[in-house]
Amino acid sequence: MIRYLTAGESHGKALVGILEGMPAGVEISAEYINRQLWRRQQGYGRGGRMKIETDEVEIFSGIRFGKTIGSPIALMIQNKDWQNWKDRMSVESDGTGIEKITIPRPGHADYSGAMKYGFDDLRNVIDRASARETAMRVALCTIARKFLEDNGIYIGSHVLSIGSAVVVKRTKIDQMIMKFTHRSSNAAYKITEEADKSEVRMLDRSIEIKAIKEIKKIKKAGDTLGGIFEVIVSGVPVGLGSYVQYDRKLDGQLAQALMSIQAIKGVEIGDGFANATKFGSQVHDEFTLNDNKIGRMTNRAGGLEGSITNGKMIVLRAAMKPIATLAKPLRAIDLETNKLVESRYERSDVCAVPAASVIGEAVIAPVLANAFLEKYGGDSFTEIKARYK
Ligand SMILES: Cc1cc2nc3c(=O)[nH]c(=O)nc-3n(C[C@H](O)[C@H](O)[C@H](O)COP(=O)(O)O)c2cc1C
Repeated sequence: MIRYLTAGESHGKALVGILEGMPAGVEISAEYINRQLWRRQQGYGRGGRMKIETDEVEIFSGIRFGKTIGSPIALMIQNKDWQNWKDRMSVESDGTGIEKITIPRPGHADYSGAMKYGFDDLRNVIDRASARETAMRVALCTIARKFLEDNGIYIGSHVLSIGSAVVVKRTKIDQMIMKFTHRSSNAAYKITEEADKSEVRMLDRSIEIKAIKEIKKIKKAGDTLGGIFEVIVSGVPVGLGSYVQYDRKLDGQLAQALMSIQAIKGVEIGDGFANATKFGSQVHDEFTLNDNKIGRMTNRAGGLEGSITNGKMIVLRAAMKPIATLAKPLRAIDLETNKLVESRYERSDVCAVPAASVIGEAVIAPVLANAFLEKYGGDSFTEIKARYK
């Protein structure tokens, strides 16, 4: 099964990661991974850090002549900003003369992390809790994503809301999704390409304008914003996942993957929350039969029934809380003096929902690849392809 680990501090020398369990024979290049890393760095509302970093992956092992060889794949992404942090993030020195951070930001990992590990310098927490870590996650998960694509399974995403700029009427968006779905199995990727044309990854241009205006306004006010994004998967066969054991449930695994992204505080599958307010007859996706082909009239379940894929597009939504680092201070405690003070500010994003949507696409790839391998698995791509056929 595919599993991975990342390491690295936000302002450390580099991010590193190992991906294990990829079958042999999957074509992949640094260029392919870098495209996803670039997408993660985009979006209106990002802070100054993204101007410093141009993430590029270095591949150390597990890939030969452009294909996976079944061995663990080791990757590295250098942090260019490290040059400015060498003293503050030194591995060897004893830290003399380096200012300690003692004021935790409400909403960030600073306080709980320091209490857990007994730190008197919050930098230790800040640098690992940071979503900079997701650059490596995107890199590793992109390899699993390529494996899925080579089997006709495509992942995409778009942003549904940023602050009060909310897509209320979905008709236009759903029509767009339907149009692409009818054409080919890569509908989800087509949607993502369409979303990439927008600075906030929104498909509805009138809401996009509102969202950008809102980010501008909120930035001026020293505040931050969150929002909701949708991740979709097309070309999914029926029968991936299982209902037989709690930890084999695909809906649970997908929700966990999305929830593991920093600042994601809500996940729904299909019309999860809206369905809860309706009658069963208004919710469940009725069957159709056309030329002996089984279909559904709707997809309110989001492509999963009994924690198993039902052949419809997988639809997942995630809610991101507003960024915790505010230029306009909140009430905080200085843990050194135990006095009530104003929270401290350091360079930060104002809104990172578009980037989070790209991360959302990535993190579900190993989950789906594992479900796929469980059903059609083998050690090489050729073996798997034959079984899937
Ligand atoms: C793409 C992305 C970028 C983020 N950028 C920032 C940021 O610049 N400043 C900040 O305070 N939080 C940022 N966050 C959120 C924090 O990483 C997150 O709130 C923090 O690690 C605490 O974790 P929790 O919110 O999951 O509890 C970002 C999250 C994501 C997904």
